[in-house]
Amino acid sequence: MQTQTENQTGTHWLAALDGEARGLVAAVDVHPDAGRLFGGTIDTEGYIHYLIQTYHYARWSTPILGEAGERLKRLGRHPELAELLVQKAGEERGHERWLLSDLANLGCPRERVEEAAHRPAVDAYVGWNFFTSRSGVPTAVLGTAYVLEYLSQTRAGVAAERLQAAASIPNIHKSVTFLRSHGALDGDHVAEMARILGRLTDSEDQAAILFSARATRSLYPCIFREGGPNRLTPEG
Ligand SMILES: [Fe+2]
Ligand SMILES: [Fe+2]
Repeated sequence: MQTQTENQTGTHWLAALDGEARGLVAAVDVHPDAGRLFGGTIDTEGYIHYLIQTYHYARWSTPILGEAGERLKRLGRHPELAELLVQKAGEERGHERWLLSDLANLGCPRERVEEAAHRPAVDAYVGWNFFTSRSGVPTAVLGTAYVLEYLSQTRAGVAAERLQAAASIPNIHKSVTFLRSHGALDGDHVAEMARILGRLTDSEDQAAILFSARATRSLYPCIFREGGPNRLTPEG
């Protein structure tokens, strides 16, 4: 049962979480290469760079979310959020295979993907989220999930359509599975998270979730290529 005050608190803190998500969308919109991706005008190497870097963080989504959920259960805290984390771990399972398939259809074999250098933001993202999952405040991972799924809901499906319409990347129609699938799924996922997180009144967990949302908002734009098509960084 929630009091009037708790309801107001829930609304207020969710508005702050939405603010982080909108901030991430705004940040990618002004980043040159991210803007080109979501506008459908990115070149082949830039798109391959994006998919490779995404692979190197998305491959850890299931263990990060799942371990956070299991630890929260063991701690006996927030059973509904523990269930949500475990459910989301299941939802993310295998998404890295969409990336490998999209990359293979672009002529980029798995060995090249595995050997590619990671952007520092990718390592920071993976390290931070494993830290909160395994030994920080485990609910924090939901802040990361929220802003990334919000970005997906607003930009991923449109990006897939625009990339296909532009058709400037060879074989692009077989290489947008990751973007297209997330655009289709993540609208419902964001709505579900907002509904469940709106009931969270614990201020320590709210702060941890907001902190991870902010960290991901800051890191994510830096997974993209710097400087655009004229300053390629070799991927190996
Ligand atoms: Fe995913
Ligand atoms: Fe999702």
